[in-house]
Amino acid sequence: MQRKKILIVYFSRSGRTKALARNMGMVIGADICELVPEKPYPSNYLSCIGAALKEMKNNARPKIQSEVPDPSGYDYVMAGFPVWCNVCPNIIYSFFDMYREQLKDKKIYLFCTHGGSKVPKKIVSDMKRISGMNFAGCMDGNEMNEYDTRAWLGLEIPDYVKPPVVPETKSKKLR
Ligand SMILES: Cc1cc2nc3c(=O)[nH]c(=O)nc-3n(C[C@H](O)[C@H](O)[C@H](O)COP(=O)(O)O)c2cc1C
Repeated sequence: MQRKKILIVYFSRSGRTKALARNMGMVIGADICELVPEKPYPSNYLSCIGAALKEMKNNARPKIQSEVPDPSGYDYVMAGFPVWCNVCPNIIYSFFDMYREQLKDKKIYLFCTHGGSKVPKKIVSDMKRISGMNFAGCMDGNEMNEYDTRAWLGLEIPDYVKPPVVPETKSKKLR
């Protein structure tokens, strides 16, 4: 099978999504790109909530200072981010806008990390409404693993990734 070209683009403020994106990129063999905002978000949690809500209210497209590769040459594009106030940080929309034309015929594979909310129910439909992009869905980054990711993308699944087969045992009645 010909090797698929995969691009993982992610934003991370405190490092969790970054660790996930880098690990996943390494195991599935993807190119990885971090979206670094020109203006860093506050390190203070509450101030960051304030900054995030302001961007959402203003439909802002924060500037990206990192170099972001053109996604056209990739078979799969994944975009990872932390859940912010039940939606995605606006910098993800900055990426979509930057390559709107190149992404318009692709399905984007989303994944998000979170602090307990899981994947918010409406996150994919909200993102579709706001960006007009096509998404394959959004995987829960807190529980993401190589097997599920490969299966989701339709990649080859090597034996070492497959879950072990546990032989069935006859249960004995406990006395
Ligand atoms: C501004 C802001 C808003 C957040 N909103 C949510 C939320 O709505 N639900 C949730 O479960 N976690 C929320 N979190 C927690 C982050 O999603 C979580 O810690 C994430 O894993 C951080 O990823 P990162 O280290 O890559 O930045 C929020 C964090 C911040 C800073």
